Formats: sequence, C-alpha cells, structure tokens
Amino acid sequence: MDALLDRRLLVVTGKGGTGKSTLSAALALLASRRGKKVLVCEVVARERVSDFFGRPPSGPTIRQLLPNLYSVHVRPREAMHEYALMILRYETLYKLAFENAAARYFLAAAPSLAEIVMLGKVWWHATQEMERGKPRWDLVVLDAPATGHGLTFLSVPAVFLRLVKEGPLARDMRGMQSLLADPVRCAISIVTLPEEMPANEAIELDRALRSGGFPAGPLFLNGFFASRFSAQEVAQVTRGGPALAAAGEAADNHESRSELSAHYEGVLRKEIPRELLRVPFLFDRQFGAQSIEKVASAIAGSS
Ligand SMILES: Nc1ncnc2c1ncn2[C@@H]1O[C@H](COP(=O)(O)OP(=O)(O)OP(=O)(O)O)[C@@H](O)[C@H]1O
Ligand SMILES: [Mg+2]
Repeated sequence: MDALLDRRLLVVTGKGGTGKSTLSAALALLASRRGKKVLVCEVVARERVSDFFGRPPSGPTIRQLLPNLYSVHVRPREAMHEYALMILRYETLYKLAFENAAARYFLAAAPSLAEIVMLGKVWWHATQEMERGKPRWDLVVLDAPATGHGLTFLSVPAVFLRLVKEGPLARDMRGMQSLLADPVRCAISIVTLPEEMPANEAIELDRALRSGGFPAGPLFLNGFFASRFSAQEVAQVTRGGPALAAAGEAADNHESRSELSAHYEGVLRKEIPRELLRVPFLFDRQFGAQSIEKVASAIAGSS
C-alpha cells in the first residue's frame, strides 16, 4: 500500500456501479492519513466523493473534505474555460478562440475535446508545482469513467498526439501520456464485484489496459462476502425449529453468496495478473464516511 500511495496519480476504473468512487475515496483517505496532501478528481457527470464524507458537492472549485483531503469535480465546460485560459493566458484570446459561433459549433461536434481538456486539467493538478519546487498535491486520485469510456479517456493523449504534434496542447498531452505510462508515478486500478458480468468486464479491461501499456495497480474485488458459518452451524440453526427457520435460511444464503465470492475470486486471480485486494460487502444502513473508513482499513489490512 505504501508503494501504491507514493505514486503521483492513481486512476480508478471498472464497470459502472462497482465502487470506483468508493475506492477512490478510500485510497485518498488512506493517503491523507499518511500525511499526504491528496486531491480527488471526479470526471463523471455525478459527483459522489464529497457526499461520502457528508460534505456539499465541491463542484469545479477545489474544496477541502478532511484534513489533507480535497476534491474537485472536473466538468467539461469549466475545464475548457480554465484550461484554455491556462494555455492561452488571456481571457480575450480565450473568447476569440472559443466563444465565436464557429468554435462553438466545432467544440460541440468534437466529443473528445471535452476529454482532452478534462485530462489536461487533471494533468495540470498532478504536476502543479508550488513555490520552491514542492508539488501542490502529493497524490491525485482520478475517479475515472467506467470501462469503455475509461479506456477512451486514458487513450485521449495518444489519439490526440497522432494528429497534433506541436503546440501547448500537444505538450500537455505528451506530459499526460508519459505520466500515464510511468509505473513509478502512476498506477491504474480496476474495481470489480464477485459476479459474472463485472468479473468478465474486469478481465477484458485488464487485458486492454495492459496492452495499452498502462501501469497496473491492484484489482479491488469489492462487495466480497466472506464465509461466516460452518455447515454445522447452518444445520444447527435450521434444526432449531420454525422460530429459527428464517435465520437458518439467511445463514444459508450468506454461505451461498460467500461461495460465489470465492468462486469469482479464483477466476479473477487466474485471469488477471494483478494484486487482488478484497473489500468486504458492508451492511451499512447509510453508506457514508464510516463505510469509507471500513473500506480503507480493509485495503490497508490486506496488503
Ligand atoms: N463494499 C460495499 N459494500 C456495500 N455497498 C457498497 C460497497 N461499495 C459500494 N457500495 C454501494 O454501491 C454504491 C455505488 O458505489 P460507487 O458510487 O463507489 O460506484 P461507482 O463505480 O463509482 O459507480 P458509477 O459507475 O455510477 O460512478 C455506493 O453508493 C454504495 O451504496
Ligand atoms: Mg462513481
């Protein structure tokens, strides 16, 4: 875990709804507890991480959630404005370049431009230096889009650089591309669940990421059911008569879920050459800060 958290950029991707935002928040929490100044960048439509910590949405401005832990919602429009301004330096130039009818038409028609500026902004955060050469952020956690879109997102620099080789955008995309290929500074993690579709999708995603040369971070197997009852215990409860019938059935259901978890863990270990870290299924009534704490200690403990 120490080596992982020593990276500059951690990217978390995986099938929709598997727990990418949960793991992003937990990784950020762990790093912040180790004294690192951490920024979580969320790039999908709906912001989640601030909510986990019971804070209002951060939106496009960086906000502190906890000591050492900050988040920002990177959205295409604001990213475009901010990032273009960073490159073009002057508001008037930005207006000339982006706010005329032809440019608006072009921008609306070029979907990857949104991704370029969003990634450009993440890169800017990841490499932003303070005075005296100390980086502003020790770690940036990128809560990335789900599988297919996530891959497209991470491939934006390579695609862009095939078309454009010079200028400030190409320079930043080259920086981002080398960061995304550098196992010392970056790791890309996958989140999955012990179920058929998420497991298959994780296997494909792992292959695609490895063949794209992206440095492999751990595979998080989220929602894991550990076995709790022996067969005798289940039988004992079941024999307890009608009053305990529901309890017996619940214990049996738990065990069958745990067998499925063990099965998919085996499949994933065989197919995916990454460190696998289990995250238990949490029976929390409210999924919030305490849940993120539990996820964080699970991944810290299993390394
Ligand atoms: N270990 C867990 N145990 C129980 N519930 C969980 C666990 N991890 C995540 N969840 C539940 O699943 C929900 C979705 O998790 P999360 O938002 O992290 O997924 P996601 O992959 O980021 O989703 P999306 O693809 O929509 O961005 C959480 O709000 C929480 O309710
Ligand atoms: Mg999410």
